[in-house]
Amino acid sequence: MIKPVRLQKFLAQSGVCSRRKAEEHIKAGRVAVDGQKVQEMGVTILPGQNRVTFDNKPVTLEEKLVYYMLNKPGGYVTTLSDPQGRPIVTSLLKGVNSRLFPVGRLDLDTEGALILTNDGNLAQRIQHPSYATNKSYEALVKGIPSKSKIDQLETGIMLEGKKTSPARVKILSEKGRNCLMKITIHEGRKRQVKKMFSQMGHHVLHLKRTAYGKLTLGSLTTGSYRLLKPVDLKKIFL
Ligand code: URA
Repeated sequence: MIKPVRLQKFLAQSGVCSRRKAEEHIKAGRVAVDGQKVQEMGVTILPGQNRVTFDNKPVTLEEKLVYYMLNKPGGYVTTLSDPQGRPIVTSLLKGVNSRLFPVGRLDLDTEGALILTNDGNLAQRIQHPSYATNKSYEALVKGIPSKSKIDQLETGIMLEGKKTSPARVKILSEKGRNCLMKITIHEGRKRQVKKMFSQMGHHVLHLKRTAYGKLTLGSLTTGSYRLLKPVDLKKIFL
């Protein structure tokens, strides 16, 4: 017997997008079941029996799930299209024809680790606050943060009316009047690392994400990417 599955879960399993994005696409009227536009949540479908379309294109479960780690260069956007015509990260994955989307965003000028996948469920898991996936960054900041400021960043500071969750922060090296810091956070608020340091009076001059959990960039050079294996994926949640 075919089990009914929620429409947003089906879209995520088919690699169209993450579950959270699926809800937005449904609300926006881009999804139809058996030719009828569906805009409310909670609708279930029978995979293989109901015909689901996204932007009028059929959605099926057959696509193989793939995972890549890209070392994102500065100057690339992590959205799938850009009204301003700036280069998009997926254009760096040559000859990869799955419909990939980035897991989480990096600012235009931020470099480093970016997972791209067609697995909406994994994307959801990495980004969902209940999993508290660690993300580590190297930030070149202006000045040398004091021990007290580092302690405050670690404990949590008020940022836009909400306290940040505990973080791990340490100095990696001093670079003249500036300082290379390592920071590990598990929230994903917009421009969070830059805002946290700025609030402490230390403007971020350069930012690079180095890891998701214990999955590091490794020897990937800027602009290059590698296919991730199941053993790599496990490290994300360590
Ligand atoms: N925090 C930031 O401020 N920018 C990023 O790109 C990622 C995390």
